[in-house]
Amino acid sequence: MSRFIDELKRTHRCGALRAANEGEVVVLFGWVASRRDHGGCIFVDLRDRTGVTQVVFDRDYAQKHPSFAQHANEALVAEAHKLGEQIRGEWVIGIRGFVVSRGTNKNPKIATGEIEVLVLEATVFNKAETPPFEITDEIDTREEVRLEHRYVDLRRTSLQRNLMLRHRVNHATRNYLSDQGCLELETPYLVKYTPGGARNFLVPARAAPGKFFALAESPQLYKQLLMVAGFDRYFQIVKCFRDEDSRLDRQPEFTQIDIELSFTNQDEIFRLIEGLVFSIWKAALDIDLGELYPSGKFPELPFEEAMRLYGSDKPDLRFGLPHVDLTDLILKHEGGGVPFWAEISEKYKSGALRLETKPEIIKALVIPASANLSRPQLEELEKGLKEIRGFRGLARAKVGEDGSWTQSPLAKSVSDEMRLAINEAVSAKPGDVVCFQFGKETLVHTVMARLRSDVAKRMNLIPAYGHGGKWNFLWVVNPPLFEYDEDAKRFAAAHHAFTRPMDEHLPLLETDPARVNCYRYDLVLNGFEIGGGSVRLHDPEVQKRVFAVLGIDEGDAKEKFGFLLDGLRSGAPPHGGIALGMDRLAMLLTGAQTLRDVIPFPKTNQATDLLTGAPVTVEAEQLAELRIKSV
Ligand code: AMO
Repeated sequence: MSRFIDELKRTHRCGALRAANEGEVVVLFGWVASRRDHGGCIFVDLRDRTGVTQVVFDRDYAQKHPSFAQHANEALVAEAHKLGEQIRGEWVIGIRGFVVSRGTNKNPKIATGEIEVLVLEATVFNKAETPPFEITDEIDTREEVRLEHRYVDLRRTSLQRNLMLRHRVNHATRNYLSDQGCLELETPYLVKYTPGGARNFLVPARAAPGKFFALAESPQLYKQLLMVAGFDRYFQIVKCFRDEDSRLDRQPEFTQIDIELSFTNQDEIFRLIEGLVFSIWKAALDIDLGELYPSGKFPELPFEEAMRLYGSDKPDLRFGLPHVDLTDLILKHEGGGVPFWAEISEKYKSGALRLETKPEIIKALVIPASANLSRPQLEELEKGLKEIRGFRGLARAKVGEDGSWTQSPLAKSVSDEMRLAINEAVSAKPGDVVCFQFGKETLVHTVMARLRSDVAKRMNLIPAYGHGGKWNFLWVVNPPLFEYDEDAKRFAAAHHAFTRPMDEHLPLLETDPARVNCYRYDLVLNGFEIGGGSVRLHDPEVQKRVFAVLGIDEGDAKEKFGFLLDGLRSGAPPHGGIALGMDRLAMLLTGAQTLRDVIPFPKTNQATDLLTGAPVTVEAEQLAELRIKSV
C-alpha cells in the first residue's frame, strides 16, 4: 500500500500555501500542470481545483537549503527525483515536501507565488494519456472537441472557478431559504403529460404499454399541492426538462431554485427573493448589493411600460435608449404623407384594426449623434436584425441642423408637419439618427428591442458579454392575464390559467378582459430573465370567471387540470411563488458567455451530449418491450 493517502495525509490544497508556511513540511496531491527540466532541477506546477503550487525536484537541495537537510532522507529524495524525470503532463502525483521562499523569483501572478515546495518524497498515483488539447484558459480549441473530452476541459481554471461559484450559490440558497422557514422537498420528475406550455420529453412506461410519462418541465403543480397539503413554505433546487431549442441562455435540462409560499402576496414574495439574491451575491462574489439598493428592494416596472419603453419584458436597464411609440401621433396625422404609415392609419380608421388592442404600431429609437456611427456601421446594425423572422427593413432618418431628414427614404414623402412633430416627440437633435419600425406589434417590439441592445453594444454602453461591473435588477410586474388571439378571435391565458387577476381588475373580467392584469412577475438582471412566478388563483369563484373568459367549461377544466382543480377545492391557502433560473444566475455571476460554461455536463445547441454521444438509437428488443416502433 502506498505511504501516501494511507499514512501521509494531504495537508494543504495546491492553492493554499503562502509565505507564512515557509519552513513547514507539507503533503500535496494533484495533477501535473506543467513540467520544466532545468538540467537536473525539475520544476512542476502541481494543480488542483484550488490553484497551482510550484514543486521542485532537486537532488542538491541539501547544499542549497541547510534547514531542508534535517527532514530529508537521501534515498527517498533520490527516488523522488527519478520520478520527477519520468512524470508528464496530467499525471496524478503526491509529494511530501519542504516549503521555502522563492526569494527573488516570486511569481505575483499566482496566489502561491511567494513559495515553492522542495520535494522530500513523491509518488505517482496514476499516469495520463496526453490530453487532446492544452489545459489553459486562453484556449481556441473548438467547443465540440472540448465537450467531447469534458473531464479534461473541466480542469481549466475558468470552468473550475465557475463551478465552485455555483456551489456557493447552492449553499447560500439552501441556508437562506431554510432560515426563512422553507422546507426543501422533492417532487417527481416522471409526471403526467399535459399539452400546452413547454414541449415535454416523453418517457415510455414499460409497465403500461403504449403510455408515456413526461419529464417535468417544472414542479409547478406539485408545489401548489404541497401548499394545499399544509407545508406552508417550500423550496427545491431542481432539474427541469424542456424539449425546446437551445440558445446561449437555454438548455433542455436546466436547474431552478423553485419556491412556493402560503398566505402570501406579491410584495412578500419580492422581499424574500431580494433577500435571497443579496445572500447569493455576497456568497458568490462577496458583493454587498445593499450598496446599490439601499432600500433592499429592486425597482418595479409594469409590464406594459416595459413593452412601451423597451419593447421587451426583460429590458436591460444598464443603459437608456428608450423607444418612442409614435402610433397615436402618426394616426393623428393620418400617416403624415408616408404611404406605409397612411396604410396603417387607414386600417384603424376603417375599423379593420381595433384601436383598443393596437395590433399594429409605429415606434422610433434615436441613435444619438454622439454614437458617431458611419453609414456602413448603421447598415451593419440593420444586417444584424435580419436574423429576426419577418424583419423587412429598418427605416432611418438623419436629423440635420434645421431639423430636416437626410439619408432617408422617408424624407421625400413625409410632410413637414409630421417630420417636425416626430422630431419633437423623440427630442431629436442635429446629427441624431432616428430609426423607425412599423407593422405588427410583436415584430416591432422584437426588432426595436434587439436594435436597442445592439446600439448599446456598439456604443460601448454594455459589453458584448458579461455584466461590465453593473448589476441592474428589475421586477417586471402585472402583465395582462389574457392574450387575444386575432386569428381564433378569442382569449387565451397569457401565461397560465391559474394566475390571480389583480384585485382592482376583477370587475373587468366580464366587461373588458383585455385590460385585466394579473399578479405575475419576472425578475430581470441586465436584460436576462432570471426568474418568474405568480400569485396563484386559489379562489374557485374567480377561477370560474377566468375559465369563462377562456371559454373553458367544467368538463374541459376537469379534463385539462383535473387533479390541480380537485386539490384547490380541498382547502387551498392563498399561495404564490417563483422559480429562479440557477444556470442563468451562475452565467451572469461569472460573466460566462453561455450556460454551457456553468454546467458541468451541458448539451449542445442541437441538444446532444457530445461526451457520451447521447441521444442514441436503442436495440429493437428494447423498443419491442416498450411497444414502440420506430418509423
Ligand atoms: P419559468 O418557465 O418562467 O417559470 O421558469 C423560471 C426560470 O427558469 C429559467 N429557465 C431556463 N433556464 C435555462 N434553460 C431553459 N430552457 C429555461 N427555461 C426557463 C429562467 C426562468 O425565469 N413554474 C414556473 C415558476 C412559478 O410560477 O413559480 C416556471 O417554471 O430564468
